[in-house]
Amino acid sequence: MITQFIILAAGAGTRMRSNTPKVLQPLAGKPLLGHLLSTIEQLPIDKSCHLITGHQSERVESFANEQSLSYVINAIYQAEQLGTGHAVQQALPHLPDEGMSVILYADVPLVSGETLTKLIEDAKDSLCLLTQTLDNPKGYGRIIREAGQAVGIVEEKDATDDQRQIKEVNTGMMAVNNAVLKSLLPKLQNNNQQQEYYLTDLIALAHREALPINTLDVANPIEAQGVNDKRQLATLERAYQCQLADALLTQGVTLIDPDRFDLRGTLKISKDVTIDANCIIEGEVELGEGVSIASHCVIGTPHQKTVIGNGVEVKSHSVIECGIIEDNCVIGPYARIRPNTHLHENVKIGNFVEVKKSDIHQGAKVNHLTYIGDATIGSHANIGAGTITCNYDGVNKSKTVIGEGAFIGSNSSLVAPVEVKSGAVVGAGSTITRTVEEDQLAIARGKQRNIDHWPKPSKKS
Ligand code: UD1
Ligand code: CA
Repeated sequence: MITQFIILAAGAGTRMRSNTPKVLQPLAGKPLLGHLLSTIEQLPIDKSCHLITGHQSERVESFANEQSLSYVINAIYQAEQLGTGHAVQQALPHLPDEGMSVILYADVPLVSGETLTKLIEDAKDSLCLLTQTLDNPKGYGRIIREAGQAVGIVEEKDATDDQRQIKEVNTGMMAVNNAVLKSLLPKLQNNNQQQEYYLTDLIALAHREALPINTLDVANPIEAQGVNDKRQLATLERAYQCQLADALLTQGVTLIDPDRFDLRGTLKISKDVTIDANCIIEGEVELGEGVSIASHCVIGTPHQKTVIGNGVEVKSHSVIECGIIEDNCVIGPYARIRPNTHLHENVKIGNFVEVKKSDIHQGAKVNHLTYIGDATIGSHANIGAGTITCNYDGVNKSKTVIGEGAFIGSNSSLVAPVEVKSGAVVGAGSTITRTVEEDQLAIARGKQRNIDHWPKPSKKS
């Protein structure tokens, strides 16, 4: 039997005050909806998903379709947003008569796979509602119980003062047998404060028909935290980051300050990795054994892979956008490694050095104030301070090739396409425009003249 997931994502999210629909606002670098889609992906069951869209439906739908998922996403357009119950009604014609549906709200992104599995299990005989007890339940629908049994949900706006005191709230998530859903949903009415068809009224309807109503208390509060505005988004971001940091600490990473660490993607680590304060890890990042990242570094780019080998030291304020950094390289402080760069073992990239789309071989050093772009640098070459590979003529990009053990004097311009072969030396301040053969010395600069008895300028009266 295929489990049906129904994700409600049609709302405007007015309180976000943003041109981006609420369900695409990023949490840890990933749109809210993306979190739910990945959690569903990981459930080891047959599933399909009905995505209820409305506000900016094309954007929401195309985001969902871009997520290479193993299950089918059926986008359903809810032309008018008449409430959460109305939203689920749109999915009814697409549901089989048997089996189970799980209803999720795209603005409650962090429910776990374990919770969903349990919810489905507990809904077997009719339905199960995921609830939570909060010290401050403001804004949430309250669970009404009689003799311990859940019999209804009342929305904050419709609640009496007494009901507002109830601390057990509706998380919005429930698992329901399709037969129950199909018989009860058409009976929803909109005679409430907001004149909406509330999904939450399903509970009172089920109670009236004497159907068993189970509830499951959510294990971890973060799983039920809803996001309606930027403040709640920021609060959830921090809580989620603390949870991610905590998981990394369990794996043995040294985070100097887990409250000042941000992971916006996935981080795979080996032993003895140290990350100092205020670093951001983005995209897919792998750090080898003994890697140390000093403070204020940004490692990785969304959707790209960055692999950093054993013993690499990244000094503070460095930005490594993506690429491969092999063992024992030393980078920074203030270095920028751009995409398609491969640093082989023991390479040194110093302060204020930018490297783009380049292959730098073992033991080469680029220590200060340099731009290396579209270049290949041989092993143990030494690139002096202020060297620039002039790779761009305003139209085309060209390559610079520097051989093994070559020595480029400071403040040189290498006008690509150009090659400095192995063992060659370029004198400081040279502008190199043609091949320097192996072991040659190339000097291309104005000759120094020393002038005796030069009349110094004197002050005009
Ligand atoms: C809802 C619940 C409330 C619960 C809270 C948990 C209802 C009536 N209330 O309130 O009991 O405590 O969530 O976070 O269900 N949506 C649609 N189509 C619509 C209306 C909404 O797709 O016509 C989507 C929204 O995009 C959103 C979700 O449903 O993703 C929830 O809607 P929202 O308006 O945020 O409900 P809450 O007021 O938070
Ligand atoms: Ca909400």
